[in-house]
Amino acid sequence: MRYRIITYGCQMNERDSDALAAMLEDLGYRPAAAGEPEDLVVFNTCCVRENAERKIMGRVLEYRLEKERRPELLVGVGGCFPQQPGAAERIAGQAPWLDFIFGTHNSSRVPVLVATARMRAGLRAETGSGPYGPVIEIDDSPDDAAVDQPRLAARRVEALVNVSFGCDNYCSYCIVPYVRGRERSRPVQAVVDEVVGLARQGVREVTLLGQNVNSYGRDLAGGADFPGLLAAVDMAASPFGLVRIRFVTSHPRDLSHRLIEAMATLPAVCEHIHLPVQAGSDRVLKAMNRGYTRGHYLALVERLRRAVPGVGLTTDIIVGFPGETEEDFEQTLELVRLACFDSAFTFAYSRRRGTPAAEMAEQVPLPVRRERLARLNRLQEEVSRESLARLVDTGQEVLFLGPSEKDPNVMAGRTRAFHYVLTPAPAELRGRLAMVRIRAARTWTLSGELVPATGEGASR
Ligand code: SAH
Ligand code: SF4
Ligand code: F3S
Repeated sequence: MRYRIITYGCQMNERDSDALAAMLEDLGYRPAAAGEPEDLVVFNTCCVRENAERKIMGRVLEYRLEKERRPELLVGVGGCFPQQPGAAERIAGQAPWLDFIFGTHNSSRVPVLVATARMRAGLRAETGSGPYGPVIEIDDSPDDAAVDQPRLAARRVEALVNVSFGCDNYCSYCIVPYVRGRERSRPVQAVVDEVVGLARQGVREVTLLGQNVNSYGRDLAGGADFPGLLAAVDMAASPFGLVRIRFVTSHPRDLSHRLIEAMATLPAVCEHIHLPVQAGSDRVLKAMNRGYTRGHYLALVERLRRAVPGVGLTTDIIVGFPGETEEDFEQTLELVRLACFDSAFTFAYSRRRGTPAAEMAEQVPLPVRRERLARLNRLQEEVSRESLARLVDTGQEVLFLGPSEKDPNVMAGRTRAFHYVLTPAPAELRGRLAMVRIRAARTWTLSGELVPATGEGASR
């Protein structure tokens, strides 16, 4: 019995898919190799932008003929997309041959949904009739912060660990709070135990996940906060071989001095911050309900650069938010130059039903949004290239992740500041740290060569 999970969206979804995989393997399923026919397909979906939805539906509908040919094939759709009001029914209307549909708070129910679907498919095969149409389970009541998600047993260098679920920020364009629910923090001890467990299995780097890690702990008794959590994880997991801790995402409004200090002082915490700015104009930031100004953001960047030398800075930007004028947009371009981001995820605003921005007058026409996106991308490419070029001839500590896709003699790895580096190196360096002298920079990647170890401890 072969399964395939098709994942869209953010790292939260990646982590959820890993838990889904673990549950399916418990049921006796094994992963389908590329091109191998599946017995079970699960879509773990995203709805943050409209084109994500369109892409997913297209891919789901590709299974219709295969399902006609092999009625025993099971297909399910879950995650953020069907969690929107009315969306599960819409999906079922377009693809009535689906076996099950589940929401973001129902993934622990997937084994039951699969068993039910199997039974129903068997019944239909035997009797030629029987219940038709997907079983739908969409809940609003999250309980995920209280239980630990399972995880696929695998030898890995890096792992994702949730610190919180959901979001309380209600940025006016964003659907995430509606499909993921209110913010729930996991207890400090649960996070620490999970990371220590991973480190004992050989994991060298963890990325702590939350929609806004900087508000971690506000809902917990006892005054837990994110810098405190970082310190606890660093102290507990370092003795077991964990060498790097990353975290996403930081909300600029809630970024504290203590977090900057934690980045500057805790040995395993990497010098990289993903700090979405979204827009460079105060008027647009206000309409977005982001809770900070352009000046505040730029001051944070300055403070970070001063306190954390060599810090890698990445961001998310939306262009064409309702009411965004050419002047507003130019302020975004100017901010990109001033902040000097290493890289940026850039998006044309997408209208999401149920969010306040969807109701705003002055929606920006699509051609204008597209044109602004292209201009922003051209500028960011230039800025990225310049910021990488500055690293040529420096020595960087690289954690090797595995052979590069193109050449088995070249290893891919990352610097502490989150730059991707290609280095000719033996495969045994996977999961190891080594010093690399950077020799060349392209737009998005660096290449370099190993610095011969000069003594004990140069490579761990
Ligand atoms: N919690 C994170 C990111 C969540 S979604 C944060 O606050 O930064 C990832 C990114 O998608 C956002 O940062 C934003 O840039 C983009 N995004 C969210 N809603 C969008 C929409 N309606 N249209 C276009 N981009 C959007
Ligand atoms: Fe969406 Fe804003 Fe929450 Fe990020 S902080 S998930 S952009 S509402
Ligand atoms: Fe998408 Fe859901 Fe993540 S909407 S961005 S997969 S939280």
